[in-house]
Amino acid sequence: MRRVASGILPMIAIDRKAPKPLHRQIYDGFRAAIVDGNLHPGQRIPSTRVLAVELGVSRFPVLNAYAQLLAEGYFESRVGAGTVISTSLPDQITRGVPTAAGSKVSYIGPRPVARRTSLFPRLEAKPWLRGPGAFRVGQVAFDQFPLKVWSNLVARHCRQMDAVSMRYRNQMGSEAFRQTIARYLRTARSLHCDESQIMIVNGSQQALEITARVLLNPGDRVWMEEPSYNLARSVFALAGCRLVLVPVDDEGLSVEAGIKLSRKARAAFVTPSHQFPLGVTMSASRRFQLLEWAHNTGSWVIEDDYDSEYRFESLPIASLQGLDTNARVIYVGTFSKVLFPSLRLGYIVIPADLVDRFISVRQIVDIGPPEFFQHVIADFMNEGHFARHLRRMRVLYREQRTALVSCIGEELESALEVLGSEAGMHLPVALTRRISDREIAERGARQNLWLWPLSPYYAGKASRSGFVLGFGGTRVEEIQPAVRLLRKLLTLM
Ligand SMILES: Cc1ncc(COP(=O)(O)O)c(C=O)c1O
Repeated sequence: MRRVASGILPMIAIDRKAPKPLHRQIYDGFRAAIVDGNLHPGQRIPSTRVLAVELGVSRFPVLNAYAQLLAEGYFESRVGAGTVISTSLPDQITRGVPTAAGSKVSYIGPRPVARRTSLFPRLEAKPWLRGPGAFRVGQVAFDQFPLKVWSNLVARHCRQMDAVSMRYRNQMGSEAFRQTIARYLRTARSLHCDESQIMIVNGSQQALEITARVLLNPGDRVWMEEPSYNLARSVFALAGCRLVLVPVDDEGLSVEAGIKLSRKARAAFVTPSHQFPLGVTMSASRRFQLLEWAHNTGSWVIEDDYDSEYRFESLPIASLQGLDTNARVIYVGTFSKVLFPSLRLGYIVIPADLVDRFISVRQIVDIGPPEFFQHVIADFMNEGHFARHLRRMRVLYREQRTALVSCIGEELESALEVLGSEAGMHLPVALTRRISDREIAERGARQNLWLWPLSPYYAGKASRSGFVLGFGGTRVEEIQPAVRLLRKLLTLM
């Protein structure tokens, strides 16, 4: 449907060669749109003159069709408002219930889809993903976001929109924004990079999708942390790669185990700053071992640095990319944790010699990133709001984490073991009894407690069960009632 000056125009396919007269074709087009619920009661109809021009016909058939639609009660005339879809149509028609003329679809017959889509569980199978609230992972402190500052920047950029900003833009993203990010990464994350290596993407998820397409062939082996971030695992599975499940211990991914399992793997996916989900920080010696393996075998290291800004015990740990002297690391960052996830904005830092390959693939995937919010974030960063926001959030998240850990200590000490380092926005906890974390999470979801079970993060046999408790969006005063509810659920098992 198209919008014209005086209202929405339904898709009316005019066929001059058809035996059906033009006025009947117009009448049928409107009637079908009303019956399907695509035109709503009270909605304005274009004038006969506008419609005739749009359809490239004379006004007579349009006048004729409108007269009939009025006479049958589909249209009504309103003084001062022109012609509108009738407000007194029977509900059954306006809700788009199938009629004999039936334009509703049916799903009969074979409907083949790619076999690999069945690799991934349906969302309904995970009730703990349904709602927002205490412990939901991936939530930031939305109510603490400086919305006023943000809205002013958005308004500023709305006013600055011009014809140039409407064209196809750079596939890598706005140059000014990439310069800002490069500066930030060099300073705050010790990366070696400049803006020519930075590709703006729709969040880490797209970063991984593009990276897999550029670097990996179906059948290639990829080291995955075990347990690992399931959406990363799915990207490599969808690319047809064979996943090599490498155990994670207190120092992060065990490089020695990886080499034993598959020395010649093409790539390793790691979350070294704050392993997801177990929360450990990769030790310096493991970092060097991993880079040495990549260097010796010509493999790639994909570093997902999703929440490294939030470290509460010491300064943020420098990135793997910053230690790498052989340009083996593809670094992935996101604004989902430091700003908010609906932005869908992140970036890849690409080894300089691979930039052209990434651009060619990017062109096919989605041509390039939407640009508007890149300008907003660049100003947010350059005018100091970003640094201020991070400082505030570090204090807040530390407070929320401390409250959660101490509440677990008081209420659930014997039932849960707290894992991981003092970082990020999620707290992994292991159950000390052998009970099903999934079942508890399902029961929790029925009471609006969003516990992410730990065991599904293992692609192989889960050696631990427990939960990943998101505390970023869980206010201090929500923590005790939520922990008590969890205790109640555990005592019932
Ligand atoms: C390990 C990991 N990487 C990345 C992300 C962020 O993904 P995105 O940037 O696609 O929102 C998350 C979010 O929870 C995560 O857990």
